[in-house]
Amino acid sequence: MRAGSTTAALICLAALAGSSRGAGTGSIQGTPHDLSPVAGGGSCSFCHTPHGALPGTPLWSHKLSTAVYKIYESSSLKAKVGQPTGSSKLCLSCHDGTVALTETITGAAGGAYISAGGSNLGTDLSDDHPISFVYSSGLSAEDPQIRPPLGLSPLLKLDRSGELQCTTCHDAHDNRHGKFLVMPNDRSQMCVSCHNMKSWTTSVHESSAVLVAASSDPYLQSGNRGTLAEVGCLACHRPHGAGGRQRLLHFAQLEENCLDCHNGLVANTDIRADMLKLSRHNVLRYRGIHDPREVPSAAPLHVECVDCHNPHATQRAPAQAPAVPGAMQGASGVTITGAPTANVQFGYEVCFKCHADNPERPQSRITRQITRCRRRCEFEPSGPSFHPVAAPGVNPNVPSLVPPMTVATLIYCTDCHGSDGGSGAKGPHGSIYPYLLAGRYETADFTPESSSSYELCYRCHSRNSILGDQSFAGHSQHLQNGIPCSACHDPHGITASQGSRLNNSHLINFDVAIVRPDPVTGRQAFEDLGVFHGRCYLSCHGRSHSPKEY
Ligand code: HEC
Ligand code: HEC
Ligand code: HEC
Ligand code: HEC
Ligand code: HEC
Ligand code: HEC
Ligand code: HEC
Ligand code: HEC
Ligand code: HEC
Ligand code: HEC
Ligand code: HEC
Repeated sequence: MRAGSTTAALICLAALAGSSRGAGTGSIQGTPHDLSPVAGGGSCSFCHTPHGALPGTPLWSHKLSTAVYKIYESSSLKAKVGQPTGSSKLCLSCHDGTVALTETITGAAGGAYISAGGSNLGTDLSDDHPISFVYSSGLSAEDPQIRPPLGLSPLLKLDRSGELQCTTCHDAHDNRHGKFLVMPNDRSQMCVSCHNMKSWTTSVHESSAVLVAASSDPYLQSGNRGTLAEVGCLACHRPHGAGGRQRLLHFAQLEENCLDCHNGLVANTDIRADMLKLSRHNVLRYRGIHDPREVPSAAPLHVECVDCHNPHATQRAPAQAPAVPGAMQGASGVTITGAPTANVQFGYEVCFKCHADNPERPQSRITRQITRCRRRCEFEPSGPSFHPVAAPGVNPNVPSLVPPMTVATLIYCTDCHGSDGGSGAKGPHGSIYPYLLAGRYETADFTPESSSSYELCYRCHSRNSILGDQSFAGHSQHLQNGIPCSACHDPHGITASQGSRLNNSHLINFDVAIVRPDPVTGRQAFEDLGVFHGRCYLSCHGRSHSPKEY
């Protein structure tokens, strides 16, 4: 808007007062901005005056606020946000609640203030969408999830300094779209005009027809918010009064932004119930530690829903190992070679973010002959033996595999680590079994063998085959003596730098609390002698193998 035409238009103000601003645009009359019924005067007069207006403004008459504001801040914000400028100061003259609504620059002080509640933004703007910053092509280059300002809808106007203001999103004169918005925001169409969130258009959160009113979040209960697709971004973010402040999330506790729906009431998956189980990724425990900009190898110990899920990208699509499952689409991670990635290709890459090179990781409670290396190297394809998570396994003779599995099959970490019981939500959220295992797996010495005690392994390895001694001739005897699988087998793998094909094939890595050195030779070792043949030096359950061959 040219200064000249503004002035020209406003000269007509006196004539227009109390009527519509013009054909084609909405009317102030009857909107919350029509203060004339409560205060008398024209519907323009509390904001504009044809005479004695503040210089440099659209004939502004309302007394400005002198407040110093707490401005929006976040670790991920690239924009340089300062104190409010330009037309935002005009809005805030009423909306910060420090100046009476009817107090004009010429009029008397006093009168009603904007009422407490959503419309009173206060002087703390750290919970409001950032304003009064330059939205330039430099900014969109720095933040690839922001669209270049030149391609914006003409309805979204930056001011003459190229700054985003309240008036970019709102027009004080036009309430046709509700909340004085410059365009409708159903299905977040206004938000996505500027924000280009990675994979949003294919996300289940963008398209779900589930109604959000059953949520435990008062914001989603209020008004008639409709379906998840209709509320879109506002399912988790709020442009004003956001309890989470940073990133404008509804709640300060990160996971509450998810659990308010993922409690079986809105979404059909009840993740909150999983979070109360014995073994869990306890997202409720960590507060204020997660940061979207964190470096995986150095982040302090923590875990949050958004460490494993990208809420903007998450899908329902099924996937086959090792491809990233839909639920983890668009998440960040660490590759099998240790490189950080912003967009995982494989499911295990999400797990390596925390269970690999970061020294702040949960440790094993089983002491093995070869101390677990960082979990990433346990699954490296160069190792002498490993479960086929990142690459097909090395052993061509695994007779116990339950069809249709073959030695070429790949599996997910989450085939073993997941919520217990088939009926609940998929994923490693919480389990009644230790180590967040998806099925029962006893590791204590003197465990009576049964189909249930090693249920996890028997999902993929036929119990009949194992007890039938199809590979290791001593399987059934050892198991019947109460020796658990974990006394001999490492469930993950052995890295090439710590073990060898001779001593650590078949995931052999003894639990040294159960398996002791052989008193005769002093050795504690397995030796691979070819297909289904081997030899052990050790003592266990009071018996010595000095050595014993099968
Ligand atoms: C609640 C406050 C408020 C009321 C009431 C109001 N205006 Fe405005 N008006 C503004 C603000 C704020 C701006 C500055 C907009 C900007 O800079 O983008 C403005 C700007 C204008 C402009 C400049 C051109 C434009 O659209 O940016 C005209 C013309 C105008 N108003 C006319 C009117 C008329 C006529 C009325 C009464 C029918 C009226 N206004 C009532 C707040 C108000
Ligand atoms: C003269 C005082 C005044 C000014 C200046 C003013 N407003 Fe308002 N505004 C109000 C009042 C009063 C309400 C009604 C508050 C309520 O319902 O509690 C309101 C309500 C609103 C609402 C909520 C509408 C709804 O349907 O709930 C929005 C959005 C809004 N204003 C935006 C703006 C913007 C943006 C500006 C600057 C361009 C602005 N206002 C300038 C007084 C003002
Ligand atoms: C990036 C866009 C954007 C900016 C910038 C913005 N708003 Fe809003 N505002 C919205 C949206 C969207 C809504 C409606 C939210 C909803 O439906 O709950 C809204 C709602 C409001 C409301 C009504 C709140 C309620 O709870 O009813 C007020 C008042 C308001 N804005 C004032 C302002 C003021 C004043 C500024 C500048 C300080 C501003 N807005 C800046 C997008 C914006
Ligand atoms: C007119 C363009 C525009 C509109 C419309 C808009 N935004 Fe923004 N928003 C921006 C820009 C630009 C930034 C600053 C981005 C940066 O610094 O990287 C931003 C910042 C944010 C941030 C803070 C990001 C951070 O890293 O701290 C959030 C959250 C956000 N917007 C959400 C929304 C939501 C939700 C809506 C819809 C209600 C919306 N925005 C509408 C342009 C817009
Ligand atoms: C299901 C919840 C959810 C929905 C829906 C959602 N977000 Fe987010 N968003 C989040 C969470 C949680 C974070 C913080 C992520 C973190 O801390 O790692 C976030 C972060 C952001 C950020 C700042 C971080 C960044 O990567 O720049 C912006 C901007 C943003 N969201 C915008 C949007 C917009 C725009 C929409 C709609 C198109 C949207 N979000 C929809 C939950 C959601
Ligand atoms: C407003 C409610 C709501 C919020 C808030 C919400 N979700 Fe969802 N989410 C849903 C609905 C509805 C679906 C679709 C599936 C369904 O109906 O259960 C879904 C789907 C998903 C899926 C895809 C898997 C599936 O069940 O289809 C994941 C993963 C997911 N959400 C994670 C999150 C995370 C992480 C957050 C927090 C950052 C979050 N959600 C916040 C409602 C929500
Ligand atoms: C953001 C970091 C992070 C990511 C990503 C992560 N974890 Fe964890 N994990 C943890 C933390 C921290 C714990 C310790 C439990 C707690 O404090 O809640 C844990 C615990 C575990 C445990 C239980 C350990 C025990 O000793 O009982 C298993 C198993 C596990 N994670 C597997 C996985 C798998 C599989 C993935 C990938 C799908 C994964 N984790 C992704 C941080 C993470
Ligand atoms: C074949 C099943 C299986 C697969 C696949 C698997 N794990 Fe495990 N994992 C286990 C078992 C069983 C335990 C506990 C008993 C033990 O250590 O012997 C365990 C223990 C853990 C622990 C607890 C701490 C520790 O070192 O004992 C973490 C963390 C873990 N696994 C993460 C992962 C990650 C990450 C992946 C994928 C990269 C993965 N697991 C793949 C079966 C598996
Ligand atoms: C350690 C990583 C991790 C954490 C933390 C995590 N999830 Fe998941 N989540 C997963 C994985 C892996 C899946 C399953 C993917 C698959 O196999 O389809 C999953 C699946 C889901 C699903 C879909 C369940 C189904 O049955 O389809 C939802 C919904 C979900 N998660 C929400 C959440 C919420 C909400 C939180 C936080 C309270 C959370 N997740 C925390 C890794 C995680
Ligand atoms: C999700 C399916 C799955 C589960 C659960 C599973 N395995 Fe496996 N396992 C496989 C596959 C596939 C192979 C074949 C890898 C190969 O050819 O080297 C394999 C191979 C093995 C091998 C032979 C490895 C070699 O290099 O010779 C051992 C030993 C083994 N598993 C033990 C176990 C134990 C113990 C458990 C229970 C903790 C278990 N597995 C659970 C799928 C599974
Ligand atoms: C006393 C040590 C010991 C115990 C206990 C043990 N194993 Fe083994 N297992 C071996 C040895 C040695 C081999 C290698 C056989 C060969 O030479 O191919 C083997 C091979 C395997 C294989 C790969 C070949 C095949 O049969 O498909 C699987 C799978 C396996 N064991 C699963 C299990 C499971 C499951 C348990 C617990 C229920 C278990 N093992 C208990 C020593 C043991």
